[in-house]
Amino acid sequence: MANTLFSRAFLIVSTLVLSSTSFLTEARFVVEKSSISILDPSDIRSKHDAAIGNFGVPDYGGSMVGTVVYPDTGATGCSPFEGDKPFRSKSSTPTILLLDRGGCYFALKVWNGQQAGAAAVLVADSVDEPLITMDSPEESSDADGYLEKIGVPSVLIDHSVGESIKGALKKAANVVVKIDWSESMPHPDQRVEYELWTNSNDECGIRCDEQMNFIKNFKGNAQILEKGGYTRFTPHYITWYCPHAFLLSSQCKSQCINHGRYCAPDPEQDFGMGYQGKDVVFENLRQLCVHRVANESNRSWVWWDYVTDFHIRCSMKQKKYSKECAEEVMRSLHLPIEKIKSCMGDPEADVENQVLKIEQDLQVGRGSRGDVTILPTLVINDVQYRGKLERIAVLKAICAGFKETTDPPICLNGDLETNECLENNGGCWQDSHSNITACKDTFRGRVCQCPSANGVQYRGDGYKSCEAVGPGRCMVNHGGCWSETRHGLTVSACTESDLTGCHCPPGFTGDGYRCEEIDECKEGKVCQCDDCTCKNTWSGFECGCRGDKLYILEHDTCIERHTSKFGWFLTLLVLAAVVAASMAGYIFYKYRLRSYMDSEIMAIMSQYMPIDNQQNQVVHHEAEPLQQRSSV
Ligand SMILES: *[C@@H]1O[C@H](CO)[C@@H](O)[C@H](O)[C@H]1NC(C)=O
Ligand SMILES: *[C@@H]1O[C@H](CO)[C@@H](O)[C@H](O)[C@H]1NC(C)=O
Ligand SMILES: *[C@@H]1O[C@H](CO)[C@@H](O)[C@H](O)[C@H]1NC(C)=O
Repeated sequence: MANTLFSRAFLIVSTLVLSSTSFLTEARFVVEKSSISILDPSDIRSKHDAAIGNFGVPDYGGSMVGTVVYPDTGATGCSPFEGDKPFRSKSSTPTILLLDRGGCYFALKVWNGQQAGAAAVLVADSVDEPLITMDSPEESSDADGYLEKIGVPSVLIDHSVGESIKGALKKAANVVVKIDWSESMPHPDQRVEYELWTNSNDECGIRCDEQMNFIKNFKGNAQILEKGGYTRFTPHYITWYCPHAFLLSSQCKSQCINHGRYCAPDPEQDFGMGYQGKDVVFENLRQLCVHRVANESNRSWVWWDYVTDFHIRCSMKQKKYSKECAEEVMRSLHLPIEKIKSCMGDPEADVENQVLKIEQDLQVGRGSRGDVTILPTLVINDVQYRGKLERIAVLKAICAGFKETTDPPICLNGDLETNECLENNGGCWQDSHSNITACKDTFRGRVCQCPSANGVQYRGDGYKSCEAVGPGRCMVNHGGCWSETRHGLTVSACTESDLTGCHCPPGFTGDGYRCEEIDECKEGKVCQCDDCTCKNTWSGFECGCRGDKLYILEHDTCIERHTSKFGWFLTLLVLAAVVAASMAGYIFYKYRLRSYMDSEIMAIMSQYMPIDNQQNQVVHHEAEPLQQRSSV
């Protein structure tokens, strides 16, 4: 059961061989154990081994004392138990449910037990045999997703131990047992060494998703432990090799690098389309080198950032699983790309790769560890971890690996403060004008996620780009769109009427992130008339005319400027003539009036005094008062 990944891969990729050459004959899968002690009744008091289930949360470093309950009906636990949590403890002692092996998956039994209120589940083997590890079911069976939700510990006990507990229960005795995990994890000193056997392939279904989710969620804890010097973590990658007889086959050519030495199953299992096995091997190698090179400068924890960022930014699903994408991720994490390249060597060369060679040797188990045959495999202090690959469960197991009283604070209070955003902004996007950033500290370590700031929402990958979207976006750095100011005039490709996107304004061309001014004059669409001249200006153009002509925009034409001057001249002339004529008329009228009045007065006056030839004088001196004539 534990060899599922291998056997599946072996069937599909029948030419590849797992590098532990002795695999088929003497592969060693170690059954990790806890102990179970029967404390009561005293006549069956005893201590036995129990195999830790590979799901749920084993209480590494701890123990549990509880009262055993064996259900009257449905003792295989394959169907949900009736009632509202029938096995929930009514006292301070928890209930440990005893179930029989058989009928369905181990995990389903444990899930049903947890649903019924049990604090832990013992599964009694159905036959006399050495203990086995209860593994999680194949991917297709877990449609309900219950596997993820199992939070209680479970162990498999020998058939005989199960029988003696059942015997005591039949006699109506109160059976108390202690499950003890405290010796399941060696804890020799103040530093925990642990390793994760993983894979960069992200298209292998639930197993790949499980390990990737774990890496993402555990990153924060792992980095705190590593930076504090509490742990030494090493990533590992399984490789296969191509048997000599198949070296020239197309399968080996597409799945292997270095002439068949290091291989991985084709991700799509079709040997043609999409990604090939050798792409996976090469990325695995890159991730190993990232760790190695980062470790040399005492920054080994950067591996966690690289792997999670690579998964997010360069996934197979998005067809971005490539060298170029990987190098972009390395750049954003300030990793020395050339050093990593030289660590990786030439994949076409007919030589051993020093990094992968070591990995293949390590796949074969040593000491207490056993061979690594399933992915993912977590090894803590040289013991294979059992239980679900989940942040809290794994942290608990690692914390159980410290010598008493040397546990780091994170084990005591789960304290998480990474502040990774302070350094290089965590490799995330940051607006160059304001302090708005996509870097966020979480219990997972830093994540790059486009923020929402000042009422404006940002969207994007969080690494290279975030764009303001929605109302108000143009207020913020022109919504990430192009803009430029010249001669005090700012033009922008952001318009509030669009909630996303950038469009170059009239007079400019481009994608909205870069706009270039259009030289309308060169385009030849404006100022087309014969005598026209064209002058390109910032965000527009000006038309003019050669010589002394005037440009008329509506008609795109030039007209003679002096025609119009002459017209004005004529008008002025006429106007002046009219004014002159009317003035002349007025003067003439005045003159006539005056001379008439003069003759009248003279006629009257002549009646009183003698008048002699003074008519002409009067005419000539009309302005003189009449009295002057009386100077006499
Ligand atoms: C990481 O560096 C340390 C020394 O700083 C070394 O002892 C250790 O073996 C290195 N690990 C790997 C995987 O290279
Ligand atoms: C890394 O740490 C080791 C041991 O702590 C030290 O000897 C070495 O000089 C350090 N390397 C760098 C590049 O800081
Ligand atoms: C950005 O942060 C720095 C330091 O915290 C501060 O001095 C600066 O004024 C901030 N700039 C803006 C635009 O908020």
